[in-house]
Amino acid sequence: MIDLRSDTLTLPSVEMKEKMLSVKLGDDVFGEDPTVNLLEQNTASMFGMESAIFCPSGTMTNQIAINIHTQPGDEVICSRESHIYNYEGGGIAKNSGASVRLIERNNGLLKHEDVLNNINQDDVHCPRTALVALENTSNRGGGVCYSINELLKIKKVCVQSEIPLHLDGARIFNAIVEKKQSPKSYGQIFDSISICLSKGLGAPVGSLLIGNEQFINRARRVRKVFGGGMRQAGIIAAGGIYALENNIDRLVDDHKRAKTIANSAKKCSWIENVIPVETNIIVCYMKQDKSNIAFIDKLEKDGIKCIPFGEGRVRMVTHLDVSDVDVNQVCEKLNF
Ligand SMILES: Cc1ncc(COP(=O)(O)O)c(C=O)c1O
Repeated sequence: MIDLRSDTLTLPSVEMKEKMLSVKLGDDVFGEDPTVNLLEQNTASMFGMESAIFCPSGTMTNQIAINIHTQPGDEVICSRESHIYNYEGGGIAKNSGASVRLIERNNGLLKHEDVLNNINQDDVHCPRTALVALENTSNRGGGVCYSINELLKIKKVCVQSEIPLHLDGARIFNAIVEKKQSPKSYGQIFDSISICLSKGLGAPVGSLLIGNEQFINRARRVRKVFGGGMRQAGIIAAGGIYALENNIDRLVDDHKRAKTIANSAKKCSWIENVIPVETNIIVCYMKQDKSNIAFIDKLEKDGIKCIPFGEGRVRMVTHLDVSDVDVNQVCEKLNF
């Protein structure tokens, strides 16, 4: 089966598992797991930031950041398409008592004027705008990326209004390799960054939240409250260290493969349109008289799995466990 439902489906390679079995462990809640400490230090310095904290999931790193940046009753500016709004179980409200100010942009990428126009005045009637949260790459936008130039403009608006800027960088390395950016440029722009090791990078578990020392000290307290303190977590952190050392540069291969699939998808008679592919996500819009579920069932019978992505839409994602041979097979099967 060629599984294109998500880049979270990858299985750890033999080499990654060997690394996981070979590392030194300790109790990370006591701060004594040397492998977790190494992963946190390496990641913080990669982004030129002071500190990092290892957590079980990207949902947790985002929710910890939101919890620290906001007070109950505050408002978070984010995209209507964002993961923090759509797919974190209402955690912004439930965990932090904050509400959202949703920006409508089909590709999920905010513009600096969106931020500027949606910051509330200092007025007792209005919720305090406490945080701007961006997502890069934008999952529901079809894996599209921000330019550093636009991020700098957004940063300027945030600095002028003294509002912190958070990045959901679940797929930040896809953007970094595709746009030939540097992690340090992100470290200079954002107050906090969440990165995932278990998406395109192919580790089985784990995300990191990066920020300054004071912020990460506060994050350690919130992680404990959220039940995310892990004990001998070095065994999974080792998979993350392996992923950061070996699986970043190869993401360009996933992007090439996604573009190849998109080119075939465009010729498929059931598909109306494919969002231009920038990274590893392909989003197809079905023709009016064709059902996305029927399309998915049809491909599944041919040994290919993909996932519905809203009405009339299908998502396919390339990743570490999808080869050139698999891509050729997908392209052949899309020829109907
Ligand atoms: C953009 C984005 N942010 C955050 C997450 C959450 O990551 P996790 O599944 O590790 O909680 C995901 C998961 O797919 C994602 O796509």
